[in-house]
Amino acid sequence: MVDLDAFVDDCKSALASDDPVAAVEGLVRDVIADPEALHSAFGERITGKSLRDRIIFHDDELTVVQIATVPGLQSPVHNHNMWAVIGVYDGEEHNAFFEETDGTLKQTGERLLKSGDVAVLAPKTIHAIDNPIERKSNAIHVYGGNLVARTGRSMWNPRTQEREDYEIGQLSEYTKELSGIA
Ligand SMILES: [Fe+2]
Repeated sequence: MVDLDAFVDDCKSALASDDPVAAVEGLVRDVIADPEALHSAFGERITGKSLRDRIIFHDDELTVVQIATVPGLQSPVHNHNMWAVIGVYDGEEHNAFFEETDGTLKQTGERLLKSGDVAVLAPKTIHAIDNPIERKSNAIHVYGGNLVARTGRSMWNPRTQEREDYEIGQLSEYTKELSGIA
């Protein structure tokens, strides 16, 4: 059994530790070790398909969200302006990493996360995610701040490659465009 409220409480305690990111990484690794239990725990909490509906908890210090990606889903390039721990518990999540130099975006690396894999992203990380497989994939994402309201976040317009202020509604529109979802 996975108790998501207990998980959130454990993450809050981790924030007060000497190394919050490593502590949260350990918690995420533990919670994704039982994918079916995590799947059913989320099933009881998620109220809809939007990103907001999938947020289990958020305050100014912490966000815990379930991220489901349909086949072919592709996010626009974005940053978080806070650390993130990503744990895939079903399927795969491909991460592409970027750097911006003199206003030009360049891919610098990539990592394919499979079920059971955990990735830690630094506050300055710029990335895009996609689901490379033919079925839905599921992950838990934990952020060291408020994912929805964090200021200073950016996303990159997929048509012009220009940096824009992060806005969750527009991010969803770009995701639909890139993914070919009407
Ligand atoms: Fe992200």
